[in-house]
Amino acid sequence: MNVIIALDGSPSSRRALEFASTLLAGRDTTVCLVHIIPEHIVYGKAGAASVEVYDMPKERAASKELLDESEKRLRDAGVGPEITKQLGTGDPADLILTAATDAKADLIVMGSRGLNVAQRFLIGSVSTKVATHAHCAVLVVHPPAK
Ligand SMILES: Nc1ncnc2c1ncn2[C@@H]1O[C@H](COP(=O)(O)OP(=O)(O)OP(=O)(O)O)[C@@H](O)[C@H]1O
Ligand SMILES: [Mg+2]
Repeated sequence: MNVIIALDGSPSSRRALEFASTLLAGRDTTVCLVHIIPEHIVYGKAGAASVEVYDMPKERAASKELLDESEKRLRDAGVGPEITKQLGTGDPADLILTAATDAKADLIVMGSRGLNVAQRFLIGSVSTKVATHAHCAVLVVHPPAK
């Protein structure tokens, strides 16, 4: 089984990671952890990237930490043997879909919500776009009923 797990550091994507670790533990699995720094963070709202924003040392460090912690979580749960990590910048949904195609993934695991605090809809735009356009199975992990 070849699996992509999409992480943005939100509680929802953390839940997706936990679900994936339960699902995949003890199986022969190749996992690719994907985290994308969104384009609007790279270029700023006005589209003008200052050198500081473009270099993004803070964002990169936080992103690497997210990927490393998530890999450790999976390994501790007995997921593997192969776990790779991919850090990109750009449109999250497009890059998750590309990662899935490149890896010939059987499954993409993601949360229903992300970091957006406004949350006007029950499901976010990244999970909607990925679930709509993927050429493999997509597991969207929703929170339990309140
Ligand atoms: N930048 C990202 N990199 C990797 N995975 C992501 C990224 N953004 C979102 N995801 C994945 O998609 C799931 C749903 O997040 P999504 O961004 O769709 O919701 P949202 O932030 O609540 O709403 P929106 O971004 O549409 O305003 C997350 O739990 C995560 O698994
Ligand atoms: Mg989001």
